[in-house]
Amino acid sequence: MTHFDKAQVTQDLTGQHWVITAGPTMEAIDPVRFISNHSSGKMGYALATAAIARGATVTLISGPVQITAPAGAKIIAVKSADEMLAACQQSMITQADVFIGAAAVADFKMKAACDQKMKKQSDTDEITLTLVKNPDIIATLAQQKRAKTLVGFAAETQNVIEYAKSKLERKGLDIIIANDVSRADIGFNQDDNQVTVITKDKTWSPDKTTKNALAGQLVEFINEYALQTSIS
Ligand code: C5P
Repeated sequence: MTHFDKAQVTQDLTGQHWVITAGPTMEAIDPVRFISNHSSGKMGYALATAAIARGATVTLISGPVQITAPAGAKIIAVKSADEMLAACQQSMITQADVFIGAAAVADFKMKAACDQKMKKQSDTDEITLTLVKNPDIIATLAQQKRAKTLVGFAAETQNVIEYAKSKLERKGLDIIIANDVSRADIGFNQDDNQVTVITKDKTWSPDKTTKNALAGQLVEFINEYALQTSIS
């Protein structure tokens, strides 16, 4: 039996809709090249698995990844940040209970992607690509109140807690989950993770563990937070 066998886990999220983004985004430069990052999607997929195990209906909006989709999730495969935002809005026409932004969204995209493959010019040693900012998906969803509880991730390499706290406020989130991606043993592409969970008035640092085990603890924390804010 796995940690998440339904028989073993309370079904207290039955009737709730959780929307989770995962993986990287892929921003086209031309038809064969793109800008992306090393996100594996493991954390978002583990969160989807943990929420499904507790009875939630989960929409998993995923950038391109190499891992298997969680059984029972409604998967929407996207590439760019613009596509990811549109898929999120479409999925939350009716307000979701929880939104978790676990995707590593590219900060920039091409101002105008090329329709044809860019050709090497024999007389040019340098080219310049003009990039423009991508939309901030989670901040947009927070502004539009698309979910009752919004949870973001903050991957930082320094001043982890301080930067995460300012993101919590700036993006209008309820919870931010911060991790130090300068450490080789956790974060991007690793099976383990160690995070600090931050809300307006609480900071919690669970022990380093597998992304699967951590996902169960995070789903528990998010649900507790949602229950408390709905009765206060
Ligand atoms: O990249 P950044 O540190 O700002 O990411 C923090 C949070 O914001 C993450 O939850 C990420 O999924 C989300 N984000 C987003 N849209 C962006 C950039 C980040 O939803 N364009």
